[in-house]
Amino acid sequence: MGKIAIFTDDPGWHGKQLRQAFAARGYLAEYVSLTECRIAIQEGSLPVIVPGFEQALPDAAFVRGVPGGSLTEVVHYLDVLHALKIMGVPVYNDGHAIERSVDKSMTSFLLQQHGLPTPATWVLRDRAQALEIAEQELRLGHQLISKPIFGSQGEGIRRIEKLTDLFWLAHSQGIYYLQRFVACEGAGYSDWRVFVVNGQAIASMRRRGVHWLNNVARGASCEALPITDVMADLAVKATAALQMNYAGVDIICTPEGGYQIIEVNSIPAWKGLESVCDVKVADILVNDLLTLCVQSKQIEQVC
Ligand SMILES: Nc1ncnc2c1ncn2[C@@H]1O[C@H](COP(=O)(O)OP(=O)(O)O)[C@@H](O)[C@H]1O
Ligand SMILES: [Mg+2]
Repeated sequence: MGKIAIFTDDPGWHGKQLRQAFAARGYLAEYVSLTECRIAIQEGSLPVIVPGFEQALPDAAFVRGVPGGSLTEVVHYLDVLHALKIMGVPVYNDGHAIERSVDKSMTSFLLQQHGLPTPATWVLRDRAQALEIAEQELRLGHQLISKPIFGSQGEGIRRIEKLTDLFWLAHSQGIYYLQRFVACEGAGYSDWRVFVVNGQAIASMRRRGVHWLNNVARGASCEALPITDVMADLAVKATAALQMNYAGVDIICTPEGGYQIIEVNSIPAWKGLESVCDVKVADILVNDLLTLCVQSKQIEQVC
């Protein structure tokens, strides 16, 4: 029987869904915490020790969570993911994709580099420069959003609407990430979550926040609505720009009929999406990953 490692510290609903989907395909999936994995350069053992996989590496690794911690700890967790990939284990999404997307600064940069629409953004260390940029933006009639570079689920995000708000302009771990606030079409506040797997937008929903934060974790309500071909194409391109196997792409539709890509999540949740869309996300993800496994085995045999 094939064996899969699901990296997570909190399997929850998503872990269970994945485990069932792997079982339906004849694979046993074990939950593993990256905090318990080791690099061991010694005789007589695999160089990467994953609990439960000491004798043989997993057939594939599904990354549902990378724990936080000090820079050194996080580098170690990512090293484990990189090492597994180097040893031929398909890692879904791989360590590099996760690195690129958990870092909002790199996400914004890569979207811009690929010619994709994303709001004007500044990332910097110096407080005086941050204040200068913010003042200039406000004087031009724009509002700003300040975000922690490594945030998720709307955590630590602030909106700067007027000059007096600058009194509490705060950095996060020494860095300011400032982004122009993008207005959305229609009444109230909303954005879109497009779920992309293997180059295809498989499901989408509009999220309507209780206020301007449209994260489901912040109480936003979900509504299944078809998306335009243009929006699907942007989501697919954003996922490709960040070199991800799959992603949850956040997009704001502007009052002018344009689109702005806000975020590309490499470990997206899909519970909210499934509550409104008739789609079995775990099955689609598992099928995609197992196809990659077969492909990587074929390449190994040719080599
Ligand atoms: N530039 C922006 N303009 C308007 N709203 C934004 C902007 N950036 C973020 N938001 C709102 O905040 C939410 C969370 O921001 P996001 O960048 O996706 O971070 P997180 O990783 O915390 O989800 C978005 O879904 C959106 O509702
Ligand atoms: Mg988001």
